[in-house]
Amino acid sequence: MASCDSIVVLVSGSGSNLQAIIDAVETGQITSKISAVISNMPDAYALERAKKAGIATAVVDHTLFDSRENFDQALQDLIESYQPDLVVLSGFMRLLTEPFVTFYTGRMLNIHPSLLPKYRGLHTHQRALDAGDEEHGASVHVVTPDLDSGPVIIQAIVPVIEGDTAEILAKRVVKEEHIIYPLVIGWVAEGRLEMSADNVLLDGVALTSPVIWKAGEIQEKKIQE
Ligand code: GAR
Repeated sequence: MASCDSIVVLVSGSGSNLQAIIDAVETGQITSKISAVISNMPDAYALERAKKAGIATAVVDHTLFDSRENFDQALQDLIESYQPDLVVLSGFMRLLTEPFVTFYTGRMLNIHPSLLPKYRGLHTHQRALDAGDEEHGASVHVVTPDLDSGPVIIQAIVPVIEGDTAEILAKRVVKEEHIIYPLVIGWVAEGRLEMSADNVLLDGVALTSPVIWKAGEIQEKKIQE
């Protein structure tokens, strides 16, 4: 990806990741502009965060559409009115159709609260607890048509601690999401990351495994921050 001037962020909920991205734009860690924040949920708190930051907001309410295809087309039309270089799914809780995903392949990121390929879909924290996992975390990945299946760029790993509930674990994970998502978007903004449906290049070098963010330390030699 040559340069990334403009980002559109899609949200459905509280938008704590959006806030981390807004903060990173404000501090200059991300050198792109957020052109718009779009929600499928009219009452998403994320919209308030965007407004407070002076960012354009819009709603495409999925309940007003009779099919996923029609919703996705309306969403795409709205996104395209902002001409973004990158689309960021940030707690956007909708399954997306293949034509939509294909249109944005290589220019759309998602963050998912599990160590992919584990626990695609919902209830990831409870599933990690039920499995007795000792580690859990979050993944930033390229979006491809199959749910939560595209190439993983970075993973934040946190310990599972005795007595954890899904809620406690979710809080531990999301804190790290707020670090890794702005980091990756910053790489895209600087043109350091090239993405396709089956490959990711960081600084021109193919990632053979995700960058690992663990206990505040990046364990990946290729990265010079
Ligand atoms: C985050 O934990 C994100 O990883 C998850 O939703 C939460 C949104 O929180 N996304 C998914 O589950 C997508 N499959 P936020 O609205 O506070 O950023």
